[in-house]
Amino acid sequence: MSQSKKLKVAVIGGDGTGPEVAAEGVKVLEAVCSAEGIPLETRDFDFGGDRYLRTGEIVPPGALEDLAGFDAVLLGAIGHPDVAPGILERGLLLTLRFHFDQYINLRPVKLFPGVQTPLKDKGPSEIDFVVVRENTEDLYTGVGGFLKKGTPDEVATQTAIYTRKGCERCIRWAFDYTRKRNKTKKLTLVAKTNVLIFGHDLWWRTFQEVAREYPDITPDYNHVDACCMWMVKNPEFYDVIVTTNMFGDIITDLAGILQGGMGVAAGGNINPEPGGTSMFEPMGGSAPKYTGQNVINPIAAINAAGMMLDFLGEAKAGAAVENAVVKIINTKIKSLAAGKMGQGTRQVGDLVAAAV
Ligand code: IPM
Ligand code: MN
Repeated sequence: MSQSKKLKVAVIGGDGTGPEVAAEGVKVLEAVCSAEGIPLETRDFDFGGDRYLRTGEIVPPGALEDLAGFDAVLLGAIGHPDVAPGILERGLLLTLRFHFDQYINLRPVKLFPGVQTPLKDKGPSEIDFVVVRENTEDLYTGVGGFLKKGTPDEVATQTAIYTRKGCERCIRWAFDYTRKRNKTKKLTLVAKTNVLIFGHDLWWRTFQEVAREYPDITPDYNHVDACCMWMVKNPEFYDVIVTTNMFGDIITDLAGILQGGMGVAAGGNINPEPGGTSMFEPMGGSAPKYTGQNVINPIAAINAAGMMLDFLGEAKAGAAVENAVVKIINTKIKSLAAGKMGQGTRQVGDLVAAAV
């Protein structure tokens, strides 16, 4: 019955509750692939804080080459209480995003029916937009340094790097995505052109130029501060947002809570080029205090697995995951918050797997 090509998925559980939620993502992947006749191979990679503390290695030699042999990566979470902030984030997460040139961070913001949003009088028809976050430049490049560190005259710089190539490929992808999504066909650039008069001028000019090639898409612009206000007041204004890496990081936490919180919010780090390696992840962190208790919500990781299927050309399987999630949220889960689901992490995975 199978005509699908085999999917090879690398699984990096990572830190804290990451391995627990990634395992439920894999459970659902296995169930849906078996139901849809898609051959699937997964392999676990034990990268993260524990391995780093044990061996001093974050990404071991040869690992990037190994990962390149997979169709995609499913990531749990990064961040370990015994490792200083920045080491694992830069050494693992950002290393993968940059090495594989995953220049799109795609973060859908969709309130599923039956899910609570903190916004009064807003429901699934108002909260349904997508953030396209540039994922390889900006303040994330690590360009900067100290002068006279530790003295009263200390200077620290952290430089936002923007390139024409980097913003153009992201903006162009966002226009194409808005066209394919085919909803209100509006693409909003979110930046801060009134203050970042160099870097965001480059974004602004590039956006205007590329917009001319897409007469069917309405180009729109918000300053990032105003965007935060509108996202809460009138989220229905948005169809697709394209934004810089740092602003995209910030506004997608706000957006994530509008769709029911970190228990459901998922994203994809995408290299859209042929043969590119993309990586899908729940947006929430490693939640160390819940580790190993079978209480964390795995839905975001399951949604990440669904996005991965969709991206890899298995749209039917991706939709089956989303439908199963909506069904289980509405019938079997009391709350999406950790410890309040009325089900354990593994049970939620079992329920979704049974429903795909
Ligand atoms: C995210 C996270 C990461 C980011 C951190 C963990 C480096 O907050 O994926 O949004 O800032 O991109
Ligand atoms: Mn973030």
